[in-house]
Amino acid sequence: MKKEVQLHDRHFELFLDAEAIQAKVKALAEQIRKDYDGKPLVLLCVLSGAFRFAADLARYLNDRTEIAFIKVQSYEGMMSSGLVREQLAATVSLSGKHVLLVEDIVDTGTTIRFLVEKIYQKAPASLKIATLLLKPDALKHPVQTDYVGFEIPNHFVVGYGLDYEEQGRCLNDLYVLKA
Ligand code: IMP
Ligand code: MG
Repeated sequence: MKKEVQLHDRHFELFLDAEAIQAKVKALAEQIRKDYDGKPLVLLCVLSGAFRFAADLARYLNDRTEIAFIKVQSYEGMMSSGLVREQLAATVSLSGKHVLLVEDIVDTGTTIRFLVEKIYQKAPASLKIATLLLKPDALKHPVQTDYVGFEIPNHFVVGYGLDYEEQGRCLNDLYVLKA
């Protein structure tokens, strides 16, 4: 039987194990290192969901990498509300810097679109996007995604930073909602 967890009233089953996630993050980080070729970088982590992905990526990046945070909210329960609110502005100056925006998941694309627009207003030297997960069938807007860990079906997932009503972020594996 697959590993299962219960969060609040919902049951989830194993979707991607920690080993597969770690291997993918390492491969992405190697690609990022190669592409930036020693240039200093700001890793801009979208709170809260991307905190683990960003921390694991950071292990492999160069010593001059800056870590910054930004917080937005669009999801309520298991649904995208369609509206994005900024809860915390970027914690370092982005002007003239190479910014890599780090997201946990791109679903409808509403959040990324909002963030990209916001960040371009700060006049970065460049802006790229890394997302651990992408749900291509849920996309409602064309979005730029430069580094994608896994493309997944349009199902609700939790773990490795992603939550259901704030639970599940501490799980080391990813789990999917049981039908
Ligand atoms: P979007 O704006 O619809 O692309 O949604 C992006 C945000 O919604 C992500 O940053 C997550 O915080 C949240 N989200 C989307 N899908 C899921 C999911 O399957 N599980 C947990 N959070 C999700
Ligand atoms: Mg998020």
